[in-house]
Amino acid sequence: MTAQTLTIRRPDDWHVHLRDGEMLTRVAPYTARQFGRAIIMPNLTPPVMTVEAAQTYRERILAAVGEGFTPLMTCYLTDGADPDEMERGFAEKVWVAAKLYPAHATTNSAHGVTDIRNVYPVLERMQRIGMVLCVHGEVTDSSVDIFDREAVFIDRVLTGVVADFPELKIVLEHITTSEAAAFVGSAGPNIAATVTPQHLIINRNAIFAGGLRPHAYCLPVAKREQHRLAVRQAATSGSAKFFLGTDSAPHERAAKESSCGCAGIFNAPFALESYATVFDEEGALDRFEAFASENGPRFYGLPLNDSFVTLERINHVVPDTVAGLVPFHAGETLGWRLAA
Ligand code: NCD
Ligand code: ZN
Repeated sequence: MTAQTLTIRRPDDWHVHLRDGEMLTRVAPYTARQFGRAIIMPNLTPPVMTVEAAQTYRERILAAVGEGFTPLMTCYLTDGADPDEMERGFAEKVWVAAKLYPAHATTNSAHGVTDIRNVYPVLERMQRIGMVLCVHGEVTDSSVDIFDREAVFIDRVLTGVVADFPELKIVLEHITTSEAAAFVGSAGPNIAATVTPQHLIINRNAIFAGGLRPHAYCLPVAKREQHRLAVRQAATSGSAKFFLGTDSAPHERAAKESSCGCAGIFNAPFALESYATVFDEEGALDRFEAFASENGPRFYGLPLNDSFVTLERINHVVPDTVAGLVPFHAGETLGWRLAA
């Protein structure tokens, strides 16, 4: 008989956008309901670049979610980032990682890094102190086709960083291609990747299904089917290098449904349900706990959570809107549900 419930150690989300202000109070409870901890992306306006900014942002998150959820803060890397400030924030346990956005790669990345060499002194220090580098892996060169930007980033930037900093812990985030899955899979144990629900579930056809579908648009953009299958294979393979990172990235409906719609999929409300469906379809439910709850903390050198969550096999329809936003899977039926 197939199992009707699945109880796993409480998962963490190793990449999420919780935003700020009113949007923060609206969306953060969905992440806190599903996850014990989360790596909080620093791409606010202005970005979170100082120890003090990360501290006060952490307090605002805690005020929005209450007890039982731990935000893990990150520092937004800029061309002028200071290695001493980086080390201070890490030593004071304010941030656990730094985030590399190539300038203009995505939402609120205007202050991002214009040339990787500009942050070499910081990377050198991070390698020495064992601080994780989270990478948005896309080149921003407009002459490179948008569907190739991740693979080209691996060739032009990441390969060099890994060669120059062989001990640096790097998470290639929200991977979308067979090239990324292969690169991470064959790299050393200090290189890992996060995988979103959407990149396991949709390919690029979803963005154009019967018309332009802004709620299927995120960055990195979904790729061809062969890439989805490669990412799915990697995530469900049992390799400890791949772990959960939703990249839930809420935008107001009007900002998505616009002549220039924002990139980002709001998947927080049913993220575990999405992932469980994928692992179930792949016959890999026995590997789901490692992906969701073990590989991430082990890579970051953090303890595993000591509480548990249960998912039930039951059909339920995802609402058209959640908190006034359009969630991933809106209107679709999911076969798993997180028990209250
Ligand atoms: C993110 C956002 O909206 O902040 N958007 C997205 O499509 N993922 C930025 C990012 O992580 O690229
Ligand atoms: Zn993101």
